[in-house]
Amino acid sequence: MDLFDDLPLPTEDLHTAIGPGAVLMRGLGRAGDVQMLQAVESIIAQAPLLQPHTPGGYTMSIQTTRCGSVGWLSEPGGYRYSTINPRTGQPWPAIPACLMDFAIDAATQAGYPDFVPDSCMINQYLPGNKLGLHQDRDERDLRAPVVSLSLGLPAIFLFGGLQRTGKTQRYRLAHGDVVVWGGPSRLAFHGILPLAHGDHALVGQRRLNVTFRRVLPA
Ligand code: SIN
Ligand code: FE2
Repeated sequence: MDLFDDLPLPTEDLHTAIGPGAVLMRGLGRAGDVQMLQAVESIIAQAPLLQPHTPGGYTMSIQTTRCGSVGWLSEPGGYRYSTINPRTGQPWPAIPACLMDFAIDAATQAGYPDFVPDSCMINQYLPGNKLGLHQDRDERDLRAPVVSLSLGLPAIFLFGGLQRTGKTQRYRLAHGDVVVWGGPSRLAFHGILPLAHGDHALVGQRRLNVTFRRVLPA
């Protein structure tokens, strides 16, 4: 578990600008963590985690699922959003109210008061799992930000600019930390370094990342 999890949070310097229109908000998700974790587990029970295969024939190391009116798919023909979970033939589960409220509040605090997500992706990282540098660019509505909540083991988040080859900064994302990127940073390259081993008191030997997006124009 995170050594500093039990210490009170400092009252200042909780929000760090990490790029134009991009902010890291430390600990914002801690207050509601138990309820949000339960909500995530209920989504996983309805729409099981799977390792996506990329169109290029690569199997990602992380395990993913989704909720919301549209869910991201990685298929041989490319990436797309779909209203149906192809594994179950059913619509994705709705975004649970506690997660929806959290995402809207986080976006508002980051300067995006009109954000209403229609898609939520759950990524599970086991020790060693990583996510290579990429852009989130499959959403039709790129005016809306991406809101990302980290639960469980800490990870190193890479955040760069609009070019893959550009310089990246490293940020440690711990349980409850939130990153929001939008506006001029909406298409910033980002990724996650291989997860270190550990055991988080609430979440166990893994990291859960919950990202909220607006896919279809509001
Ligand atoms: C993502 O890039 O969509 C997820 C990033 C993360 O796991 O923090
Ligand atoms: Fe991403």
